[in-house]
Amino acid sequence: MNDKNSYMIALHEYLRSFANKQKLFFKMIEEKIIYYGLSASYLGLTIPEELKKKYVKTHYAVYNKVAYQKLRDDYNQDKSNLLYLYLLLVYGFNHMIRFNGSGDFNLPVGNVDYNRNVHQALETYFTTTKNLEINFENLDFVEFLRRYSFQKDDFVYLDPPYLISKCEYNKGWTQENDDALLKLLDYLDSQGIKFALSNVLVHKGNVNEKLKKWAQNYHVHQDLQSNYISYHDNTIKNTVEVLITNY
Ligand SMILES: C[S@@+](CC[C@H](N)C(=O)[O-])C[C@H]1O[C@@H](n2cnc3c(N)ncnc32)[C@H](O)[C@@H]1O
Repeated sequence: MNDKNSYMIALHEYLRSFANKQKLFFKMIEEKIIYYGLSASYLGLTIPEELKKKYVKTHYAVYNKVAYQKLRDDYNQDKSNLLYLYLLLVYGFNHMIRFNGSGDFNLPVGNVDYNRNVHQALETYFTTTKNLEINFENLDFVEFLRRYSFQKDDFVYLDPPYLISKCEYNKGWTQENDDALLKLLDYLDSQGIKFALSNVLVHKGNVNEKLKKWAQNYHVHQDLQSNYISYHDNTIKNTVEVLITNY
């Protein structure tokens, strides 16, 4: 598994280290949620009804703002604390990771909390990764794909930044990156290696024309159950999210 973002890989390695110690991880999370006074629907730590009525659409963000800022300050004092980074991801805006120029985590609070979905995603992560042998790499995708000698019938899944959407982790991703990726995928295909690529063909009126044309050589699957769309629900109608496969 590979990502250029070293924090992302550190988090995966950290979470994975708890695959056989799930109970311990859930206990640690609960303790910190209580310590900081964050809400957690899954744990029954709910927000007062009054606040819910007053801030119908933003009550999680309103309630958790101060506690989240304290957590963020503490994390920025000691960035080796990956439990704190994971909690920032859970409670932060759009479940993302963002650092400023001075290296401090700087996303604002999100309108979310530790709910059933988050808990289930963690459980699934632990059970899925428990019995797998995973190598974590922190490389640019070009180096990663070149370095591994994939064999015929190996399978490569790719979820790169989407060129035409303006998400935090898509910043810095250029047409050149897209071109290099598609070229490498053509190469994998020529070697009999299976791939699946997640992407968006259309977003808010923009069309990724090059990708659309390239995808005609392969199979394009639509109507996906998408996390991306659920995080960006204002874009549901004009986003065409796809999975492109060569099998
Ligand atoms: C759409 S997100 C994938 C999210 C991931 N599938 C997940 O669920 O956590 C795109 C990812 O590509 C990574 N990325 C951006 N540029 C990259 C590059 N040149 N090489 C490798 N990874 C890159 C980003 O750090 C980001 O985590």
